[in-house]
Amino acid sequence: LQLEMFVDELPDMPKIQGFDVVNGSPKSKSLTIGMFRKKWKFHRDLPPTPVFAYGASRLTATVPGPTIEALHGIDTYVEWQNHLPSKHILPWDPTIPTAVPATKKGVPTVVHLHGGIHEPASDGNSNSWFTAGFKEKGPTWANATYHYNNNQQPGNLWYHDHAMGLTRVNLLAGLIGAYVLRHPDVEGPLKLPHGDEFDRPLLVFDRSFRTNGSIYMNSTGNNPSIHPQWQPEYFGDTIIVNGKAWPKMMVRRRKYRFRIINASNARFFRFFFTNGLEFIHVAADSTYLGEPVVTNETLLAPSEIADVVVDFSKSETDDAILANDAPYPYPSGDPVNESNGKVMKFIIKKNQEVDTWRVPNKLIKYPSPDLSSVRETRYIAMYEYTSDTDEPTHLYINGKPYEAPATETPKAGTSEIWNVINLTEDNHPLHIHLGLFTVLDQTELVNKEEFKGCMFKENDAIKCHISKYARGKKVEVPAHEKGWKNVYKMTPGFVTKILVRFSYIHSNSSYSFDPTANPGYVYHCHFNEKPLVVRSWIMKIM
Ligand code: C2O
Repeated sequence: LQLEMFVDELPDMPKIQGFDVVNGSPKSKSLTIGMFRKKWKFHRDLPPTPVFAYGASRLTATVPGPTIEALHGIDTYVEWQNHLPSKHILPWDPTIPTAVPATKKGVPTVVHLHGGIHEPASDGNSNSWFTAGFKEKGPTWANATYHYNNNQQPGNLWYHDHAMGLTRVNLLAGLIGAYVLRHPDVEGPLKLPHGDEFDRPLLVFDRSFRTNGSIYMNSTGNNPSIHPQWQPEYFGDTIIVNGKAWPKMMVRRRKYRFRIINASNARFFRFFFTNGLEFIHVAADSTYLGEPVVTNETLLAPSEIADVVVDFSKSETDDAILANDAPYPYPSGDPVNESNGKVMKFIIKKNQEVDTWRVPNKLIKYPSPDLSSVRETRYIAMYEYTSDTDEPTHLYINGKPYEAPATETPKAGTSEIWNVINLTEDNHPLHIHLGLFTVLDQTELVNKEEFKGCMFKENDAIKCHISKYARGKKVEVPAHEKGWKNVYKMTPGFVTKILVRFSYIHSNSSYSFDPTANPGYVYHCHFNEKPLVVRSWIMKIM
């Protein structure tokens, strides 16, 4: 199926304001957002595709869903409603830990606001799922309305499904959307490109389609006698931006701000412009950078976010293709091809314009990691385990699967150092819920094979062996990735040292966790086939 590139206009997703304005001042707001089955046109020449879409109503539901715009300090309440039919549109695999309703009817869903810092009951625990009309609910389901405090620093979040075992197929079906948290007092003076025309989220993901338009997903597992359907990673050949395959966008010779979210299940993107235009990074997935950083390419793992300004007045050509050259799986898989190596096209108007937007030399500076406040140092080894019966690889942490009891019990308000040791062949994007982290450094392991012998051990045992192995070359963290983040790429064969601040909140806002929160938060690899499927690990914030 060969679709012509750059024929559809880049859409803007509908915006939903997460606050009210009463007598000129913002007030908290309650929203109702549903999940609907409908058909979505991904391309001019592709028949409409059955999808699951978020929206205020079935009619207005889109893929990706509406962009929620929230204000710092103003609460947003959302009742997420499931209006999905009794059967899924994609094949799913009951042999992996999965939310299965007792009646076997209905599609379990639960929404996670990725990057949000809020109360436990609103975090979208994978076992807090519910089916249409809340008919059936998972074991940790607590309330229908989620409360987002919006007390954190301004930045880019996104919401997506998080149901146990179904995250991978629910995201593929379309359950994703952007959430922008603004803080006008702090951001306004920066004069960055602003407003609907110049400030745009770009949700980028890969899908494959059948000629009838439906989403193609290999429905035979790579080890069908054990997992009839499950595959460790999904890769599609068509690149979608804001719900259109390889769209085009007309731009003026001015600066634009793009909040680029990699919403793929497993594909990394290494973006670059074919005409040499640059990315001016102003923020990453959790916070602004202290100062802008200019790069020619941008590597995003699944769920990472690059918030960049692109200055089209610098373009020497009248069009520019946003392209991708990240092998898949990253870094040792296949090279990109004609299809998945292209993302979208910008068509640049000829005449120069006066630009009122700027990129100041100083952005927003947050406190640097304070190593003296570290309460605990942990060693976390990621290892892909293949059983004697050749069961497909499952990602383990310190030899423990997802179902094992929590081994990490950080205290809210404290910092910890985590040394994440990636003994697998792939780069794994580590995501931590309800904590922000900064990446300190990455050190290559020597004799990785020998070191694997101690990876089934507990924290302390790993600790006493690690110095013998973690003494290879050190890799600098790129400047645009040095801020506070919530996902980062764990390079294979390396120890990545991060400083995690649990419930990090900027300046004078206060927040306290419910210490009895059950069953705690997860940190996981954001390959959606892996985390909420067989592998992800509960940590309890105490
Ligand atoms: Cu973006 Cu636990 O997820």
